[in-house]
Amino acid sequence: MELNAINLLDLDRFVTSVPHEWFTYLRHHAPVYRHPEGHDGPGFWIVTRYDDVVKVNRDTATYSSEQTRGGVVQLEDYPPMDDFERGGRMMLTMDPPDHTRYRSLVNRGFTPRMINALAPHIREITVNVIERALQQGTCDFVTDIAAELPLQVIAELLGVPLEDRHKVFQWSNRMIGSMDPEYSVSQELVRQAQFEMFMYAGGLAAQRREHPRDDLVTTLLNADIGGDKLSEMDFNLFFLLLAVAGNETTRNALSHGMNTLIDHPAQYQMLRENPALVPSATEEILRWASPVMYFRRNVMRDTELRGQQIKAGDKITVWYISANRDEEVFDDPFKFDITRSPNEHVAFGGGGEHYCLGANLARMEINLLFEELTKRVESVERIGEVKRLRSNFINGIKHLPVRLTPSTQHAAA
Ligand code: HEM
Repeated sequence: MELNAINLLDLDRFVTSVPHEWFTYLRHHAPVYRHPEGHDGPGFWIVTRYDDVVKVNRDTATYSSEQTRGGVVQLEDYPPMDDFERGGRMMLTMDPPDHTRYRSLVNRGFTPRMINALAPHIREITVNVIERALQQGTCDFVTDIAAELPLQVIAELLGVPLEDRHKVFQWSNRMIGSMDPEYSVSQELVRQAQFEMFMYAGGLAAQRREHPRDDLVTTLLNADIGGDKLSEMDFNLFFLLLAVAGNETTRNALSHGMNTLIDHPAQYQMLRENPALVPSATEEILRWASPVMYFRRNVMRDTELRGQQIKAGDKITVWYISANRDEEVFDDPFKFDITRSPNEHVAFGGGGEHYCLGANLARMEINLLFEELTKRVESVERIGEVKRLRSNFINGIKHLPVRLTPSTQHAAA
C-alpha cells in the first residue's frame, strides 16, 4: 500500500467497514502523519499509536481542545456549531483551568453514588426492551434494542418524559449523522435540530427551577462552585452534549457487541454459561468497537512527536480506533476475546482532562444489556444486511436485523 492511497476524508470508505488496513499501515510506517486535506486546506496530523494518543490527550497545554476552529470532531475548518459555542461553554471544547472548574460542576451529577442509584431502574428498562424484542421474535437490534436503551437512560437522567424521547433521538441523529444519506439533512436542518433541542432544554430547566427534583437537571442548575454557575446557554449545550455523547456512542457499542458476538457464537455461549465474564466482555466490546473513532486538538506551540516537527496552529487528530488495535499494547489485537486481560483500551479517551464523563454509566448499560440478554436469549442469528453509518467519526451501525431465540431454561424459570 502507498501512503497516498489513504484518505480518511472519504466517508464512503467507512460505509463498508472501518479501514483498519489504513490504520495498521500508518501505525507501522507513518505513526504521526500529515494527512492532506483538499480545498487547499493545511492538512491535519493523524496520530495512530496508543502511546502517542495517550501523550496528546494528557498534554492539554500543547494540544488544545478549545483553540480548534471547527470543534473537536471536525477535521476540516468550517464551524457549523460556532454560533452556539459563542453563546456558552461546552466542556468538550474547553481547556484547563476553565474546563476543570466546569467539570467539577457537572461531576456532581455523575458521581458513582448518582450512577449506582440508577442501576435498578436501568436494569428494569433493559429487561423491558429485551422482552419486547423477544416477543416479536425478529427485530432490528439497533433501533429496537441498542438505540432504545441509552435513549431511555438519558431521558431518565435528564428528566425527559418518555413520550418525548424520540424527539431527542431524531435531533441527535440529525446532528451526528448529517453526512449519512439515511439521515442526510442540510446544514440548515442541523441548526434547526440544535435550536429545537435548546428550546426543549430551556423549557426543562424552567420547569426544574420552579419544581426542583432529586435529579441531574436540578443538581446541575443548582451547582455552584465558588460562585461559578452554569448559565442558561451552558446548560443547553450540556444537554445537547449528553444527548449526543450518551446516545450514539453507547448505541454503537451495544450494536457492535452483538454483531461481533454473532460472529463468535462460542463466546456468546461462554457468556451465557459464565455471566461473571460480562464485565471483561464489555471492555473487549469497547476496545473492539471504539464507537468514537477520533478526536481533534489544535497545537498550541511548536513541538515534536515521534520525530515529526509539529507547528503551533497545526491541527492534530488522535485515532482511538487505531490505538485500540496497537500490536505493541494488545496481544493479537485483531482477535476478539471476551476474557482479554489486561485491556487498557482508550475507547473513552486516552485519560487526561477529557476522559469520558459517562464512562461508568456506559459500562453499566453494556454490562446490564449483555447480562439480561444472555439470561433470556439462547442464540442470536443475523437475518439481513448490516448497514453502517457513513461517518469517519462515529463507528456506527444503523441496522442489524436479527432473530432472537428465547432460552427455554429462562422461560421455564
Ligand atoms: C460507549 C459509550 C461511550 C463512548 C465510547 C464515549 C467516548 C468518549 C470519548 C472518547 C470522549 C473523550 C473526548 C475527547 O477526547 O476530547 C468522551 C467524552 C465525553 N463523554 Fe463519552 N462516551 C460514551 C458514553 C457516554 C455517555 C453515556 C455520556 C453521558 C451520559 C458521555 C458523556 C461524555 C461527556 C460529557 C464527555 C466530555 C468530557 C470532557 O470534555 O471533559 N459519554 N466520551
